[in-house]
Amino acid sequence: MSRYRIAVIPGDGVGVEVVAEGIKVLEATAKVVEGLGFKFTSFGWGSEFYLRHGQMMPSDALDVLRDFDAIYLGAMGDPRIPDHITLEALLSIRRGFDQYICLRPAYLYPGVPTPLAGKKPGAIDMVVIRENTEGEYADVGGRIYRGTEAEVAVQAGVFTRRGTERVIRYAFELARSLNKKKRVTSVTKSNAMRHSMVMWDWVFRAVAQEYPDIESGSLLVDAACMNFVRKPETFDVVVASNLFGDILTDLSAAIVGSMGLAPSANLNPERRFPSMFEPVHGSAPDIAGKGIVNPLAAILTAGMMLEFLGEARAAASVKQAVEKVLVEAEVRTPDLGGSSKTSQVGEAVVSKVAELDREG
Ligand code: NAD
Ligand code: IPM
Ligand code: MN
Repeated sequence: MSRYRIAVIPGDGVGVEVVAEGIKVLEATAKVVEGLGFKFTSFGWGSEFYLRHGQMMPSDALDVLRDFDAIYLGAMGDPRIPDHITLEALLSIRRGFDQYICLRPAYLYPGVPTPLAGKKPGAIDMVVIRENTEGEYADVGGRIYRGTEAEVAVQAGVFTRRGTERVIRYAFELARSLNKKKRVTSVTKSNAMRHSMVMWDWVFRAVAQEYPDIESGSLLVDAACMNFVRKPETFDVVVASNLFGDILTDLSAAIVGSMGLAPSANLNPERRFPSMFEPVHGSAPDIAGKGIVNPLAAILTAGMMLEFLGEARAAASVKQAVEKVLVEAEVRTPDLGGSSKTSQVGEAVVSKVAELDREG
């Protein structure tokens, strides 16, 4: 009997709506996979908590989360509070639990319209691996002479050899595990960022030599953006720094049809700490509370959680159920051109999980 203890942080805006659907789907997998079970513990942390207590989560939040098997998060961010305050909570979990791998797959599902002309289902099938604990997001810097003409702001990028090497190595190992011949593309900006990113390129070439069976290449981030649009089929595994990985994955979500289809996993591969699973999208205040947010990104994210927990059968059933809902195209939210409600999409996936089980 595998009963997993999951810490749930719905967070703000649409985070609350999509996490509710993800939990329904997880419960559905527990009904069809013998021995699988979940104990969800929900934490009401986020912007409302901040308005009451002056912080997004309690000071001992990481101690509270430490003993869970995984963390399932919706989104953080509220127009009433500056983003650099609200989002620090999220970043402190990623850093504090050394979740140095951020996995963000992008797949063009059958039945989903893409803004790119002439791309067939499956033609876009990539995973972006984003360094998730340092780089441009390292919390190093400061401001002096605030509010005066002499004001200075310094935001340092921190690239360690260890941090760079481990994410690059993970990318090659992932490519190797994918069986088919897969290419690893590293994305930097070493023509302008002459220290950190020149080191990154150097480490990438050194690690690549250890994987002669895997094709590899480097692109500058501006050219990579162009090629995500022009020829996305040339990407399999992409590895990039924290900021570049962030930007590239809004783009990869857009070319496969919607932010509402983009899952994400923040992993501590050594499992010394819990990993955290959250969709790529944010709290989407423009549509929050309307019941129209697409929950599929959060549902696919729950599937990634199952995969990481070692529940391959349950993970596959979530993925297949989502695929079926998409290809049948009867139930879909407005971002995909439909008029269904968030909960209807969640329920459609739940029924498909059961149906797939009956079909064996
Ligand atoms: P966003 O991802 O929330 O929304 C961007 C656009 O995509 C919006 O028009 C939104 O309606 C649409 N969208 C996003 N997810 C969707 C879904 N599942 N279904 C349908 N449409 C969807 O990005 P933003 O507007 O730049 O940010 C809003 C807030 O969220 C900000 O406070 C930001 O800092 C925060 N944010 C948080 C996270 C996170 O918690 N992981 C991630 C990104 C942004
Ligand atoms: C994401 C988000 C976060 C990030 C923000 C909200 C800090 O955009 O998860 O993609 O940049 O990591
Ligand atoms: Mn982002």
